[in-house]
Amino acid sequence: MHRAQLVAMARHNIAHTRAGSIALAPAVQRVPARHYTDPARFERERARIFRRLPLLLATSVELPKPGDYCALEAVGMPVLLCRGGDGQVRAFANLCRHRGAQLVPEGCGRARRFVCPYHAWSYDTDGALVGIMDEAEFGAVARESHGLVKLPVLERAGLIWVTPDPHSTLDIAHFLSGYDALLSSFAFERWTLLERREVKGPNWKLAFDGYLDLYHLPILHKDTFGADFPNRALYHAFGPHQRVDAPNPALLELEAKPEAMWPTEMLNTGVWTIFPHVSIATFDTGLRGVLLSQLFPGAEVGESRTVQSYLVATPPESEEQRKALDAQWELLGYVVEQEDYATGFRQQAALQSGALPAVMFGRNEGGGQTFHAWVERLLETDDEALTGALCAPVSASFQP
Ligand code: FES
Ligand SMILES: [Fe+2]
Repeated sequence: MHRAQLVAMARHNIAHTRAGSIALAPAVQRVPARHYTDPARFERERARIFRRLPLLLATSVELPKPGDYCALEAVGMPVLLCRGGDGQVRAFANLCRHRGAQLVPEGCGRARRFVCPYHAWSYDTDGALVGIMDEAEFGAVARESHGLVKLPVLERAGLIWVTPDPHSTLDIAHFLSGYDALLSSFAFERWTLLERREVKGPNWKLAFDGYLDLYHLPILHKDTFGADFPNRALYHAFGPHQRVDAPNPALLELEAKPEAMWPTEMLNTGVWTIFPHVSIATFDTGLRGVLLSQLFPGAEVGESRTVQSYLVATPPESEEQRKALDAQWELLGYVVEQEDYATGFRQQAALQSGALPAVMFGRNEGGGQTFHAWVERLLETDDEALTGALCAPVSASFQP
């Protein structure tokens, strides 16, 4: 099924490439500048978006074998991901049931047991409480009801989503809206994680806007990679998630071949964004790679952090390939920090001055319009209506 959707998107691309057109949104949309600067709104976004929705917190290749684990923090929730003996990934709040000490220091590793550094209570990789220090003297505690606190988790397409709320009833597969089937065309579970780093950025939405925006590529990035890039985008929405691609003349040659022979790597190009906080940008330096960017709101409205991971379909086999990948990694770091986020920090300061009532997203920037419409909808949606709110498409309607 996912292949038929990829082919349909390629045909859409071919039609627009031939016509020299793109799909345009009905109107220019304005987003109030305070949406990027208001601390109260920012707190609401943390609570209603980041603490309520599944977040992409890891890739399967980070914990490939039983006993592999990763501990990390996401919007104030300490998270422990672990692959159990049955091969299933589980997610827990990374804290001890005794008195809440952090169970595992942040980072990845392999373990058969997790032993709390405070009083040595221990848990197995399924989260079960298996050891209580000096249990006879401590007193009676029902082990079966004092395992690690579980968080909803789903592993799909070589990616791992966790909802950072133990009480969440939202079905993660429902939230993914079939997008995971398209992402499975990459087979990320067989890729290699080469590099990772963290970059500080402006307000998370200001930063995220840039990942949905091809309009700026030949302008802001003219001195690095963008001079020859088209500035026109085609957007495809699956629930709140959006794939961004540019009209691609290389696809025209596919038309002469049967669809079954269209290579997958020509069908899933572009940028795959995952609401609310992830971008997967595809590259080809001879070896197929992606820059996977996970954005998280920072401590203040004007701050965010981005975890960048560089994944490649096959590991480099020669010194030459390694050098090409290293150069690409350096370039991507420079582009995001010195061009995108440097611009973003100046936008942030400008918006905080209060001089501008609203920013605009043009008819050619439909992806940004859709993203902000989803943010707005989720802020307005109460918990009991959340599942239903994720089903219907949005239309942007902002007033300056
Ligand atoms: S807090 Fe973990 S054993 Fe006491
Ligand atoms: Fe950019």
